[in-house]
Amino acid sequence: MKFLLFCGAGNSLSGFEIQTRFSDSTEFKNNVYILTFKSEDEAKKAVSQLGSAIKMAVLLDGVTCTPKSIAKQITHKNFSTTTVSAGKERLDSREIKDLLAKGRFLDAQDSYGLSPIIIAKHKVDEFFLDFDTNQVWQTIWVHDFKHWIKKDRFMPFVNAKAGMLPPKIARSMINLAPSDSWGNGKVLVDPFCGSGRVVIEGLELGFNSYGTDVSASQSQEASENLAHMGYSKQLIECLDSTHLSKKFKNKVDLIVTEPFMGKTNLRPDKIQYLVPGLKKLYLGCLKDWLSCLKSKGVVVMVFPVFNDGKKDYKTSDIIDDKLKLSYNQLNQGILYSRPDAYVRREIIVLQKIN
Ligand SMILES: C[S@@+](CC[C@H](N)C(=O)[O-])C[C@H]1O[C@@H](n2cnc3c(N)ncnc32)[C@H](O)[C@@H]1O
Repeated sequence: MKFLLFCGAGNSLSGFEIQTRFSDSTEFKNNVYILTFKSEDEAKKAVSQLGSAIKMAVLLDGVTCTPKSIAKQITHKNFSTTTVSAGKERLDSREIKDLLAKGRFLDAQDSYGLSPIIIAKHKVDEFFLDFDTNQVWQTIWVHDFKHWIKKDRFMPFVNAKAGMLPPKIARSMINLAPSDSWGNGKVLVDPFCGSGRVVIEGLELGFNSYGTDVSASQSQEASENLAHMGYSKQLIECLDSTHLSKKFKNKVDLIVTEPFMGKTNLRPDKIQYLVPGLKKLYLGCLKDWLSCLKSKGVVVMVFPVFNDGKKDYKTSDIIDDKLKLSYNQLNQGILYSRPDAYVRREIIVLQKIN
């Protein structure tokens, strides 16, 4: 069965996430991918694990882009049709309504259709029409937006100024790991765990997931956040990230982390002094983590790129020829940033060589 997966817009992370988890996927258009699964249940289970997935539609067998064919599929009062082919062809919603006992048409703002909140709240039968191939797709799944909002905004300790990762980004980062270090029962650690967001996403995916942080108060807050989600506080420990091997020697399949990147309200003229210290810290970590990781273990890490108004300061250039004797770099940096941010985030995947 074929499925259209709609992903969150705004960065290239979703494309890398989909490609890593589903290597046979193809891009339908920007932020929309075609995936193949054996059943709807298998498809829903698989895409629920993604951070970037927003909603998914299934290709309807034998349904064509005509009012009569689509009207037969409508079981709820509300329906919506959106053209996904390049041309200007549209279906007249009145023609569909005339074929229904009762029907209310909801107009989508753009070619991505309605938002998951509208679809779930108003129980909408949503269709995507491809006039080029005369195929029709129907939305069958939307992401659990209530759960994502809870994790983003309603944890005991939420501090936007501390540079927390949005939970969906944390989830997508975990999904950048290749299959042999990913999944149920694998050991995942975030050595700069902050509020514990990566740890929580790891637990939800079935990893044995742990967090450490050098700050005692931050560790305490992460523990409280974990407890709020029903997980053990013991999964968090206060520890310096360059000494992770004291606790996790040869045990770790996957390290996923957004490290310390300096104070959030840093003055631009201070950037040039901050960057060498950060590079030293990251290098110390990557060396220590070699004795934490199992053979072929993986690190998915944010490397900040600062801009002081004059030039870019990259931190990923610590991955030089010497470090490449120990780690294979699996991707070029995936850039992710919030609009107007003075620091952009380059996400790099490294695999321990043996
Ligand atoms: C950018 S925040 C991480 C935020 C986290 N990704 C989240 O979503 O909440 C960086 C964290 O690194 C911690 N930190 C700074 N230096 C550290 C070190 N040497 N070892 C371990 N943690 C450190 C800070 O206490 C802070 O909580």
